[in-house]
Amino acid sequence: MKTTISVIKADIGSIGGHICPSARLMETVDNYLSEHGSDLLSDRYVSYTGDDIAIVSTHQRGANNERIHKLCWEAFMAGTEVAKSQGLYGAGQDLLKDSFAGNVRGMGPAVAELEFEERPNEPFLFFAADKTDPGAYNFPLYMAFADPMNTPGLMLSPSMAEGFRFVIMDVNYTEGDRVIDLNAPEDLYSIATLLRDPERYVVESIWSRGAREQSVAVSTSRLHNIAGKYTGKDDPVMLVRVQKDFPATGEVLAPFAIGHYVAGSMRGSHQMPLMPVPLNSGISYFDGPPVVSCAAFAMHQGKMTEPVDAFAHPFWDTVRKQVSKKAIGMRQQGFFGAAMLPMSELEYTGIVEKLDVLDKRFTVRRSV
Ligand code: 13P
Ligand code: 13P
Ligand code: MG
Ligand code: MG
Repeated sequence: MKTTISVIKADIGSIGGHICPSARLMETVDNYLSEHGSDLLSDRYVSYTGDDIAIVSTHQRGANNERIHKLCWEAFMAGTEVAKSQGLYGAGQDLLKDSFAGNVRGMGPAVAELEFEERPNEPFLFFAADKTDPGAYNFPLYMAFADPMNTPGLMLSPSMAEGFRFVIMDVNYTEGDRVIDLNAPEDLYSIATLLRDPERYVVESIWSRGAREQSVAVSTSRLHNIAGKYTGKDDPVMLVRVQKDFPATGEVLAPFAIGHYVAGSMRGSHQMPLMPVPLNSGISYFDGPPVVSCAAFAMHQGKMTEPVDAFAHPFWDTVRKQVSKKAIGMRQQGFFGAAMLPMSELEYTGIVEKLDVLDKRFTVRRSV
């Protein structure tokens, strides 16, 4: 019997602007799942990262299952009512459709799912990021699955020696899922060529070529593709099965020590470094900096252990200090140059109307 891990995540309202959900909101979502999901789910874990609530669930119903998706959608709907009653900001922000239609993909919430035959021991990591978008994982995934400078397992582990298959999505294409399969190591330069543009090309999944097993699933939704305007960032979630045929936990965590620059922060419109934070952390400086949390689990027959907070270890205190310095450094140049995202990313915001008005006021000087 295959086990499925489904992560479904939404921003349904938060305290003090876009900081974090209220305790009552968290309770409401969790209570809804225990009241209505006990016969559907093997297990669940509800947490928040910034203003986003993520439901990690395990079950035997496969990916894209209507009943699992509907359960989570309705838990978020129930939460939205509480968010409204508490006057939370952006109540129901990510629930972009009026009624549920079979699957939450394309309706606003972010989704990442893995379906697999459980190994005798099954360690996995659940990542959630706020104030950024799915391309934020391109860099750490490239390092963890394709670069032996980061991942010695690519040299030392016989089962990893065959490399990994990257499935990369063109998230600008809105007619359907436009994807390409590329193999590391032989397609390394092609993988690099695409992943350097994280606003357009996003890692959707990664597979072990030796074991023919999936390790990684990333949520790839783009909210502005659904809504046609800026409605918040796409705040991505990710699942990574680790160890044995896959990179070790430490190899997957290591790239997050760099605090690479990602799209997001204030109004989803800036370049800021990604800060690894403990589970259930809120947001602060400049609606950021963008944050990522990681819960590590072991699992047996769909039952998860308690989560271990991977970024709570004292090592990450130094990283957080360095990321804070990088964030302050970038903010010193305001809206100039690299600090703000390029026009292609801002075109869903009010700046387009402003430029249209200004465009009409330009005059062309005649040369004399
Ligand atoms: P252990 O020998 O403690 O299982 O660790 C193996 C490993 O690969 C850690 O990176
Ligand atoms: P969220 O996408 O996390 O709701 O943030 C929106 C925003 O614009 C923050 O400045
Ligand atoms: Mg929000
Ligand atoms: Mg958010």
